[in-house]
Amino acid sequence: MNMIEARQMTKTYTIGDRQICVLDKVSLAVPAGEFLVVKGSSGSGKTTLLSLLSGLDKPTAGRVFLEDQDITDTKEDDLAPLRNGLIGFVFQSFHLVPSLTALENVMFPAELAHDPHAREKAHHLLKRVGLQGRADNFPHQLSGGEKQRAAMCRALINHPKIIFADEPTGNLDSANGRAVLELLLEFHRERQTTLVLVTHNEEIAKVADRMVVLLDGRMDHGG
Ligand SMILES: Nc1ncnc2c1ncn2[C@@H]1O[C@H](COP(=O)(O)OP(=O)(O)O)[C@@H](O)[C@H]1O
Ligand SMILES: [Mg+2]
Repeated sequence: MNMIEARQMTKTYTIGDRQICVLDKVSLAVPAGEFLVVKGSSGSGKTTLLSLLSGLDKPTAGRVFLEDQDITDTKEDDLAPLRNGLIGFVFQSFHLVPSLTALENVMFPAELAHDPHAREKAHHLLKRVGLQGRADNFPHQLSGGEKQRAAMCRALINHPKIIFADEPTGNLDSANGRAVLELLLEFHRERQTTLVLVTHNEEIAKVADRMVVLLDGRMDHGG
């Protein structure tokens, strides 16, 4: 089964009277359990691609499927709960809620899903990534690496089948970046999640099942 599929997906942004075509009839199928690395220079459409594949944004043309279900025309009200259970997101800039503690941030998606074990699961995950001593810290009281590890716990708490990670190490030094990538890989292997990772890290790209490159709106599937 394909966990994610894009068919002839096009995305055009209109700014004033100018149109820019960021993705031009891109097709991609990601089988369940695959670890896919997405590369491409800045502005090549990597973030746009992830937004479309996760249903956060709509393509201008073409279709998107998650678990063989066509989500292209699904309304946000129906997509949000689907996404909360199926997809975990890790962003370059963490996106933690500033008014919530690390623990509360991690618990949040589980509480949305009415999981009665949200708190203990969050504690367990924080411990797993070495943040047991930071549970009550607010985001501004965490280092960059700690923020990203907390964000990773939040992405994982509902046991999503898919993890999208968009340059998760972009704001981290190399040691913290490596730790975050190793944890992502560890969870991917352990849970057999489908992992779509945008990264420029060559070492990680080497251990991926597959790598695609965005260039001039097209996707180079290599080989
Ligand atoms: N909401 C938007 N409105 C207009 N243009 C956008 C929008 N989002 C992204 N773009 C443009 O689309 C292109 C691709 O952006 P993005 O997907 O963020 O690239 P990447 O993640 O590879 O750096 C860029 O030229 C960017 O300026
Ligand atoms: Mg980007």
